[in-house]
Amino acid sequence: GLGVINIPVYVHVVYSNSQQNISDAQIASQMNVLNDDFRMQNADANNTPAEFAAVAADTEITFSLAGTFRYADSRSSWGTNDAVKAAYPPVSPSTHLNIWVCNIGGGILGYAQFPGGNSSTDGVVCSPQYFGTTGYVQAPFNKGRTMTHEVGHYLNLRHIWGDGRCRQDDFVSDTPTSDGPNYGCPSYPTVNCRSTDMTMNYMDYTDDACMSLFSQGQKARMRATFQSGGGRASILN
Ligand code: ARG
Ligand code: ZN
Ligand code: CA
Repeated sequence: GLGVINIPVYVHVVYSNSQQNISDAQIASQMNVLNDDFRMQNADANNTPAEFAAVAADTEITFSLAGTFRYADSRSSWGTNDAVKAAYPPVSPSTHLNIWVCNIGGGILGYAQFPGGNSSTDGVVCSPQYFGTTGYVQAPFNKGRTMTHEVGHYLNLRHIWGDGRCRQDDFVSDTPTSDGPNYGCPSYPTVNCRSTDMTMNYMDYTDDACMSLFSQGQKARMRATFQSGGGRASILN
């Protein structure tokens, strides 16, 4: 096996006011969440119901901050069309996860590029108020789980409901089917498509405080991208 895989990270902070120029401490808090969540060291792991605890996974993926870049820019919102990446291109995207922290606008928390896409737009974009756990953060998305979710996409995970009705799959067998996203903090059990939804999975749309796991099947799907020929294999050099 590949053992523990480390992903080096570049963070690009693009700001139009001082609030958006988030602190190094806020960036560090997000790195901590990624490392805790992907290694199943999250303090709320014990919130995962017994029904799902057996499939909760330590993905054996870690993240290390390789550098931070800061850019003042008068543009106050960037949308989801990769304009921020054209203005501030990724650095070594074949070997590094690039993250742009900028105001997306329109109530969008973040967005990510799946493996196999154009290297010039590869990485994850997140609005500053949903990034990390300290500083300029806004409940109920103030526990760093937007980035956990987006990095899941970056490593080939689909939304847990497969972005379709009951029969639409997320290509992961141990995540129950559902007919759509869950929001807020659903009571357990929430049943759709004749099975209990894994509403606390990072790839649902629930509040940060109500998410607590990736599954073993999601772990396998993410780690497959690092195998020879996989979309993230170049990160291993
Ligand atoms: N809506 C975004 C996406 O589909 C992120 C959702 C993140 N959810 C959260 N609780 N932080 O990529
Ligand atoms: Zn998503
Ligand atoms: Ca599934």
